[in-house]
Amino acid sequence: MQGREQWATRLGFILAAVGSAVGLGNIWRFPYIAGEYGGASFLLVYLVCIFIIGLPTMIAEFSIGKRGQLDAVGSFSKTAPAKPWVIGGWLGVITSFLIVSFYAVITGWIFYYMFSYLTGSLQQVEPGGVEEFFGGFVGDAFLPVMWQLIVMGIIVGILYFGVRKGIELSSKIFMPLLAVLLLVLAGYGLTLDGAGEGLSFLFVPDWSALGDPSLYLAAIGQAFFTLSLGMGIMVTYGGYLSKQTGNRLPGTATSIVLLDTLFAILVAVVIFTAVFTIGADAGQGPTLIFVVLPEVFNQMAAGGTFFAILFFFLVFIAGLSSAISLAEVSVSFAMRQVKLTRKKAALIVGGLITLVGIPSALSQGGPLGDFLIAGLPFLDFIDVLTDSYLLPIGGLIVVLFVGWGWKSRATLETADFKNQVFAKTWLFLIRFVAPIMILIILLANLFGIEA
Ligand code: PHE
Ligand code: NA
Repeated sequence: MQGREQWATRLGFILAAVGSAVGLGNIWRFPYIAGEYGGASFLLVYLVCIFIIGLPTMIAEFSIGKRGQLDAVGSFSKTAPAKPWVIGGWLGVITSFLIVSFYAVITGWIFYYMFSYLTGSLQQVEPGGVEEFFGGFVGDAFLPVMWQLIVMGIIVGILYFGVRKGIELSSKIFMPLLAVLLLVLAGYGLTLDGAGEGLSFLFVPDWSALGDPSLYLAAIGQAFFTLSLGMGIMVTYGGYLSKQTGNRLPGTATSIVLLDTLFAILVAVVIFTAVFTIGADAGQGPTLIFVVLPEVFNQMAAGGTFFAILFFFLVFIAGLSSAISLAEVSVSFAMRQVKLTRKKAALIVGGLITLVGIPSALSQGGPLGDFLIAGLPFLDFIDVLTDSYLLPIGGLIVVLFVGWGWKSRATLETADFKNQVFAKTWLFLIRFVAPIMILIILLANLFGIEA
């Protein structure tokens, strides 16, 4: 029997997890959600969710994989044979499939922006005109689908050939580069006229915004989305842990969570200093970074085009690596469940993801702009359905499974806490706090209780 693959070093494992975590969730999604929910109030609730729900759930997901030593579905059923917990694995396949369908569309927008800077068309837009530029692009009947197809082609190509090395590069070289670039841009943002206003929007809470229950669901949803939780990805990564790389899981998970959070906050500083400088609407939604950032790049005295190309390139890479980890869930599932070869699975799954993504690509003012589900355009609907409902449900299953489905000795042994106080706190969080909070918020939203 062939030995199962394992991470070579703890650092390699951390980088891979950070590679999956850092993506459009930090750069595109976090600022626009924070902007919609009032900035600092959202940030506050988000940080609480990250540390009392997200981090404990990540440790739990790693534990399932570490104990099961298999893929997501396999690890669930091996650590609890013939129990319904495996639903968590199945749900993960469905959720990741739905997410990647629109994630590839957004990655296509990023790619198109980079391309537009390369050809010189975007830097020529008059100040204040980027909104129209963006609207014209996403509202087109053909272009968004074309760029979605290009991105899906790249994803399928990489999955088809299984180029592990290429994906790993993105975590080792491009992510640090992205961090440095964001630091430079944040430094630049602080020199802008709107810096003070932007910073107070981001860091001084408006307490009245906390009365809105949907803010909490959005915060939990974003916490799961940004940390790649609730769909078995971190279970799968935990499945490659050995005795050595798998010890001290809590510390490992904490570094991953801190890095992801830093990226999000840094991007938010860049965006909101810019938003208030150019007088844009912080709550405009998914279009936020596509409208605000280019205005700033275009107004930079020197190097704007260079920064823009570099920025969209790095974000493209970050999005691509996350999209690949998302699509790989369905590909490996199809290979095992339907016994397809990797090549067939990549082509078929990639084709299906593309088909489901097309309505998203056409939903932002394009031909399907007026086709609303639950009052939302298709892309926004799939986004809310997955991040606000499916991911929290997936995370709920994970914490209940590890917290209640295992003997507490096995649970604590697997997670490998060195500090007894932290260990007890964690157990308490995954047994009571996380499940109860997730449940209350899900129910409040399902039954439409509004403040
Ligand atoms: N965490 C990624 C991001 O923030 C998105 C993602 C979710 C990737 C789930 C993989 C799995 O963009
Ligand atoms: Na993220």
